[in-house]
Amino acid sequence: MNCLSCQQDLPPTARFCSSCGTPCATASAAAPAAVTAAGPAAAAPPPADERKPVTVLFCDLVGSTALSGVLDPETLRTVTLRYFEAMSAEIVARGGTPEKFIGDAVMAVFGVPVVRDDDARRALAAALGMRRALARLNEELAATLGIELAIRIGVNTGQVVAGSDRTARQALVSGETVNIAARLEQNAGRGEILIGPGTLLAAGPTVSAEPTGPLRLKGKRDSVEAHRLLALGADDPELLRRFDVPFVGRDAERRTLDAALERAVREGTAGLLRVTGEAGIGKTRLVREWLAGRSASGGLAYGAGRCRSYGDHGTLAPLADAVRSLLAATEPSEGPQEAADGPAVGGLAVGDAMALLSGGLLRDGTPNAPFEDMCAALATVLERAALVRPVVLVLDDWHAAAPLLVRTAHRLTDGSGCAGVLVLCAGRPDGPEGPDDDGPPTGAGALLQLTGLPYEEAARLAAVLAGPDGGIPGTDPILERAGGNPLYLEQLLVGDRADAGGGVAGSGAEAGAGGAAGEELPPTLQALLGARIGALARAERDVVDLAAVIGREFTAPELVRLQSSVRDAEGHGMTSQRQLVDEALEALGRRRLVESGPGGDRAAAEAYRFSSGLVHEVAYASLSKRAKAERHAWAAELPSVLRSGDGAVGGHLERAYRYRAELGLLDDRARRLRDRAAAALGRAGAQAAARSDLHWAHGLL
Ligand SMILES: Nc1ncnc2c1ncn2[C@@H]1O[C@H](COP(=O)(O)OP(=O)(O)OP(=O)(O)O)[C@@H](O)[C@H]1O
Ligand SMILES: [Mg+2]
Repeated sequence: MNCLSCQQDLPPTARFCSSCGTPCATASAAAPAAVTAAGPAAAAPPPADERKPVTVLFCDLVGSTALSGVLDPETLRTVTLRYFEAMSAEIVARGGTPEKFIGDAVMAVFGVPVVRDDDARRALAAALGMRRALARLNEELAATLGIELAIRIGVNTGQVVAGSDRTARQALVSGETVNIAARLEQNAGRGEILIGPGTLLAAGPTVSAEPTGPLRLKGKRDSVEAHRLLALGADDPELLRRFDVPFVGRDAERRTLDAALERAVREGTAGLLRVTGEAGIGKTRLVREWLAGRSASGGLAYGAGRCRSYGDHGTLAPLADAVRSLLAATEPSEGPQEAADGPAVGGLAVGDAMALLSGGLLRDGTPNAPFEDMCAALATVLERAALVRPVVLVLDDWHAAAPLLVRTAHRLTDGSGCAGVLVLCAGRPDGPEGPDDDGPPTGAGALLQLTGLPYEEAARLAAVLAGPDGGIPGTDPILERAGGNPLYLEQLLVGDRADAGGGVAGSGAEAGAGGAAGEELPPTLQALLGARIGALARAERDVVDLAAVIGREFTAPELVRLQSSVRDAEGHGMTSQRQLVDEALEALGRRRLVESGPGGDRAAAEAYRFSSGLVHEVAYASLSKRAKAERHAWAAELPSVLRSGDGAVGGHLERAYRYRAELGLLDDRARRLRDRAAAALGRAGAQAAARSDLHWAHGLL
């Protein structure tokens, strides 16, 4: 066989060209599967590691050696086990993973196995919960053994490398973020919770904390700006986000909401409308703006509640909150309380209905039994309120709704009454009813799907967010990165991008993924997007991982080609992947991570792009360096890249080399990659210089 690149004669089993380092699998574009049997990296372990934003918590006992002098060893062991149990329970209750027990210390990670956008807040809630749990344990220990335990806690947020192999001897997560969390814990005083700068930013403005001043941590050259955690405030998006910024656009969506309410009044039965869209797209804001406008003019009365995926509350708490706030907002003269002795609605006296609900649902959010009686009582109360004016119940963060809540909402809106009541369920696409599709409204209620703001409106919002001195020049790339998502815009333009020290290093804004090199993404964005990408099914994630290396735009055939190269190199076989890739792309489209892209010279039907520059950046940043090194080497051989010319080929080779170098793998292969990259970039630079494109030439050379 001959090398495609330099035509060197090679033995049939060669994986690389011994002369120029080109992977031999690329020698035949027409039959990649047949040739990739001799891929370049068959010996390399699968790139299972990923980089992800997590929050790490360390908790240790203070003065435990003194205890061992006081307590019998068996008693000490029992006490320590109870301490571990109590601490672990607080971590697990907030979705954290206790990863290691080292001596008397507990290390927990929030973000493993899946990243959530509120991992930092969960970790802080756990830390405060651990302090309370210890106080409870201490009451008992003081009474029975006359001792008191004390803990100190350190919490830090940032990128880590997470291994996927739980059986491996290595820690599941590693990196500077973990070291800083451990050092913060060691620097904390008795009962103190010290948090790193990344955590403070990621947890949002309702965290109450005081600065400790710069801390010099062992093993770190630079000092770290740590804070002492005092309290964790409410997580209402109105407090955490910028609901004060003027609302733009969404006229059609407001009309859809109007129409849904009018239908509920006209048709004499309760309606259910699901408002869906990716995180930060503006579901909560839209619903609140609409409610504020309509209720100010007396057009409706409403109550709202939010679903939560963790915490101590009744299963139907969001519904209970919504009904309670509706009743509180309804004038006493027109509310159900006043009508307690009034006429029955739908066969049940309002007073009886209220009495029933007050003993369960409205007390603590727990369901009343039997289920049908509770639904009948609810319908009675809502219908009574809607006699005065239409009623809207908002159940926000519907993606976290418990199955019983979904069942209750559907029962209330199944067409059997409750005139003038509209239930609005606002949440991210992957709610309890599975990923949304674009099909017609189903029995589960009509669907209002929010997509990104159109360019004009996004530009208007960007101008407001940037402020009078914000300088509109330069917002264009920001608009491109945000892809119409108002929260992304907000975070890019005003999100606290204060230097977060070691806490948030290594974000998605790396060269190669479109972001300005050296610029770091706000931790909130890393977590938001990391959560969306982390929640993908394996096949979808595989496609995202491959596409991220190709670029913001890519095609299905490129993915198939790259996938068979990588799979083969990793020893996963060579089945035809086209159908699987197409299915994954369809699913990614439904999740709004990927969209059909501009065709260019590619066949339009096969062209795709990441829905925003940020999605691409974060997808790219979540790949391990090893995976990037391997995949860029393969990507340099894609026919489309070869057609694009030396600049594109050299760019991939240069990155393949750089990531290998960063891993310390300066072997023959790395040197060949470097030489090929230099040659390709040199040729591209010379061509650019010949065309007098000096700026481009300078970048290449
Ligand atoms: N049309 C808009 N005009 C101006 N700002 C907007 C608009 N839509 C959303 N925003 C802003 O974007 C941010 C995110 O909005 P919001 O919290 O409503 O998103 P969401 O879709 O509910 O996200 P999540 O899924 O995380 O709950 C908020 O600060 C909000 O004020
Ligand atoms: Mg919301």
